[in-house]
Amino acid sequence: MKVTVITISDRASRGIYEDLSGPKIVEILKEQIENVKIERVIVPDEKPEILKALQNANANFIITTGGTGISERDVTPEICAEFCDKELPGIAEILRAESYKETPMAMLSRGYAGMKNKTIIVNFPGSVKAVTLCTKVIIPMMKHAIKMFQGEGH
Ligand code: MTE
Repeated sequence: MKVTVITISDRASRGIYEDLSGPKIVEILKEQIENVKIERVIVPDEKPEILKALQNANANFIITTGGTGISERDVTPEICAEFCDKELPGIAEILRAESYKETPMAMLSRGYAGMKNKTIIVNFPGSVKAVTLCTKVIIPMMKHAIKMFQGEGH
C-alpha cells in the first residue's frame, strides 16, 4: 500500500513550527499496516502548491492534514474537491461524527474525502489529537479499499 501524507500549513512549511501531525499519521500507519510505503510532503496553504502535491503523489491514498477550518487561509477542502472526480462523503461524515465525540469543535472541520482515478484522498484537521483519532478511524477502510483496487472485490 502506498500512502502520501501532505501537511498543509503556512507555518510548518516555513519551518516556523515543527510539523507534528504529519509524522503522527506516518507513525500510526506504520504501526498498523504491513508493507506500507509512505511519502511525506509539506506545503503552504496555497492552491498551486497543494494541487502540485496532489498531482505528484503516486499513491493509493493521499491523507492531508491541516487547512480544513474556518480561517481565511484554510482552502484544503475546496482544492481537494476540485481535484477529485468522485466524492466519498461517508468518510468525511464518519470522521466528523467520531471527532465530535472528542470535541464539539469538530463541527468546524470542513474536511473532504473523494477519489481521483484509483486514489482516495482524505482531509484531516491539523492537530496531533485530531490525526491520531482520524488515522485510526480510516485504517479499516484503507485495508478494504486496497483489496478492491487490487481486483479482489469484496
Ligand atoms: N477533530 C478531532 N478529532 N480532534 C480535534 O482536536 N479539532 C477541531 C476540528 N476537528 C479537532 C478535530 C478544531 S479546533 C478545528 S479549528 C478544526 O478541526 C479544523 O482544524 P484545521 O484548521 O487544523 O484543519
